[in-house]
Amino acid sequence: MSQPSPDSPDVLEKLVSMAKQRGFFFGSSEIYGGINALYDYGPLGARMRRNVRNLWWTAMIESRDDIEPIETSIIMNPQVWVASGHVDTFTDPLVDCTGTCRKRWREDHLADERRARGKPEDAPGCPECGGALTQARQFNLMFRTHLGPVPDDAAQVYLRPETAQGMFVDFTTVVQAMRRRLPFGIAQQGKSFRNEISPSNSIFRTREFEQMEMEFFCKPGTDLEWYRYWCATRLRWWIDDCGVRMSRLRLREHAADELSHYSAATSDVEYRFPWGWGELEGIADRTDFDLRRHSEHSGRDLSYFDTDTNERYIPYVIEPAAGLDRACLTMLIDAWDEEEVRGETRVVLRLHPDVAPWQLAVLPLSKKPQLTEYDETQSIGRRYRRQDEIGTPLAITVDFDSLEDNAVTIRERDGMTQVRVPLVDLEAACEEQLAVCRAAALQRAQSD
Ligand code: GAP
Repeated sequence: MSQPSPDSPDVLEKLVSMAKQRGFFFGSSEIYGGINALYDYGPLGARMRRNVRNLWWTAMIESRDDIEPIETSIIMNPQVWVASGHVDTFTDPLVDCTGTCRKRWREDHLADERRARGKPEDAPGCPECGGALTQARQFNLMFRTHLGPVPDDAAQVYLRPETAQGMFVDFTTVVQAMRRRLPFGIAQQGKSFRNEISPSNSIFRTREFEQMEMEFFCKPGTDLEWYRYWCATRLRWWIDDCGVRMSRLRLREHAADELSHYSAATSDVEYRFPWGWGELEGIADRTDFDLRRHSEHSGRDLSYFDTDTNERYIPYVIEPAAGLDRACLTMLIDAWDEEEVRGETRVVLRLHPDVAPWQLAVLPLSKKPQLTEYDETQSIGRRYRRQDEIGTPLAITVDFDSLEDNAVTIRERDGMTQVRVPLVDLEAACEEQLAVCRAAALQRAQSD
């Protein structure tokens, strides 16, 4: 029987263990004891990330004619972060435990942390040991470093906490270079850094992560229409392109008191994780806040001249902002499944074929014919299981009959069905089977 995996409380633990063993992800610098909330991606993780980046790039850039890609530097002029408001307000409320455990918490996460430990949300004191907590103080999440050899205040710079500001400060340059007219978007993928107080749930919240963000510039007054368009478009991407199950996703609109001061409307694409709902992507109507602030602070005019109406204005911006690490964790959790097959537990990652690290495996023919013939069923079974566990949708097996009939077996991951295919038709048969897998992934995502 198949189990609804993401509901099982230990799925994250099992997944994290598999992720290390099979080379998806694991703690950074582990031979030195690791470093908190920083991760490395192994050979399978690196391939999967590339696939997810490509899916986003295809959907947001290649398949459209209204979005330009850029790549901006991680360290920017520090005035960028003054203008954007990050220096003053990119803070989280920090409280310290004065009891036995001495842990540090985000005050706004205390209720969740208590719930995760089976305690009432309003239990007093530290979620871990119940000790008294200090008053909250604001802690700025930006990592600081120094540019150049003299580490004085004048040389202080920040690692970017989001990729978005690159798109705002380069807006006019891109408009001019590409002769762009509104509405159009600028997008980038890249690393961001936040000194999170309470990183949690493996690669869900880390201190170094990758974002995939797009700023869509439009005429004021058309923004809410574009906002609704991008909410719907981005939700569909998670389901149709990545195969995440619709039944575990929701689009949650922020209440008025939850909105950032610059935002006219914001919705989050959220996934139901074993520990509760978590944000995968935020879609925000950021009004003209960012371009206006950068115009004021830099003294450069970032307004736009609309030749259709002969008006000059500061564009409004709709921003879909997703995280790559969270996307991968979500897809892995959503795909995780365990079922009984002939009295044994089969772990199978039902990943979308375009997300899976490998689309097909060619299982090797043993160099020792007599041995392989002896335990062929068992050894091939084990090889299939290894591919199931990492989500490879198709496996091609070359066996001894292949030498006689010039045919091989294609075995499909989810239903474990097998077809015998002449070698001359192999390429077309693989394409066909992958198309079937894509259709099945879509059906699973839309109906499960
Ligand atoms: N420019 C808007 C912005 O950065 P955000 O909601 O703070 O908005 C966007 O971040 C996305 O980046 C989140 O939905 C999440 O997927 C990812 N993200 C943010 N902080 C993260 C962290 N500490 N670890 C992993 N991913 C994170």
